[in-house]
Amino acid sequence: MAELNTLETEARTRIAAADDLASLDALRVEYLGKQGSVSLLLKTLGKMSPEERQEKGPTIQALRQAVSDTLADRKAALEQAALEARLASERIDLSLPAPEAPKGSVHPVAQVMDELAEIFADMGFSVATGPEIEDDWHNFTALNMPESHPARAMHDTFYFPDAGPDGGRMLLRTHTSPVQVRSMKAHGAPLRIIAPGRVYRSDSDATHTPMFHQVEGLVIDRNIHLGHLKWTLETFLKAFFEREDIVLRLRPSYFPFTEPSVEVDVGFAIQNGPKGQTRVLGGSGDAPEHGWMELLGSGMVNRRVIEMSGLDPDEWQGFAFGVGVDRLAMLKYGMDDLRAFFDGDVRWLKHYGFSAFDQPTLSAGVGARA
Ligand code: PHE
Repeated sequence: MAELNTLETEARTRIAAADDLASLDALRVEYLGKQGSVSLLLKTLGKMSPEERQEKGPTIQALRQAVSDTLADRKAALEQAALEARLASERIDLSLPAPEAPKGSVHPVAQVMDELAEIFADMGFSVATGPEIEDDWHNFTALNMPESHPARAMHDTFYFPDAGPDGGRMLLRTHTSPVQVRSMKAHGAPLRIIAPGRVYRSDSDATHTPMFHQVEGLVIDRNIHLGHLKWTLETFLKAFFEREDIVLRLRPSYFPFTEPSVEVDVGFAIQNGPKGQTRVLGGSGDAPEHGWMELLGSGMVNRRVIEMSGLDPDEWQGFAFGVGVDRLAMLKYGMDDLRAFFDGDVRWLKHYGFSAFDQPTLSAGVGARA
């Protein structure tokens, strides 16, 4: 009995003296581990006579409990002290600047599409969309390009190997013009829409990529004529380039789905922009480094297209145009290689991209970045 008392006193003293968690754990092993002194005492119970066990058992159990409780108390005290020490020594300086968070940017193509939507919304146009996986009928036939039409060959079309749900050939749309047909069929007339989106042609060099972007415009109403088209394009391009002296060159052209057809070029000159890029200048036909950029195809909607879209061409007329969005972005913001648009190089995106706060508005100027 005295022996047990001594053991308990010694254990309490040593546990109280343990000043870190590691030495405390070593004591736990020494007393309560498999070979620990208290554990060995417990084992002796098995060899005792029942009377002896009844007498000594509770004392040994009480000793084990006392040692175990003392260890737990000491552990809690040490942990509390460690926490207090940490709280006393650690400081957060709230006046430090926040670390730089990785930022995305708005791609110039997305920015220009938003600018176009803003400009045309002001003229009463709404935004329409159509599928990129299109059928032959909407992409060609309904646009007055029947099976044997030579203009089909100019589109370098990507076809799918399998037929579509209606048995027709499926393809990646080569232009946004099928949205003209879809919109007329869905909404009838009158109609004023733009249709931005991706288009695909098997073509690749510095100014052509297999995927690029167009915005289609379509107005259907009574008594629409070429003058409306010219005014709309001029108003749009002046708003887009934010200058009044934009020079346009209208050339007679041919598209199966417009009659007559007009190709529109915009005059530009090489000049250094704020970031050293070349920028568009209107009214600069005499500048030494002057060029014409082919920008869009347009014309009066062919009456056969109006008819195939379910409207009466004797009642409804209209004009349509298709603009290359990537080209618009290149001219306005001064990139010279179209392929870089789609490389996903973060350095390019950082340089040419826009902040999400640069929301195009007509009042603030559609090109918010100077
Ligand atoms: N779809 C034509 C193209 O991709 C452009 C265009 C659209 C021409 C509408 C006339 C009218 O080249």
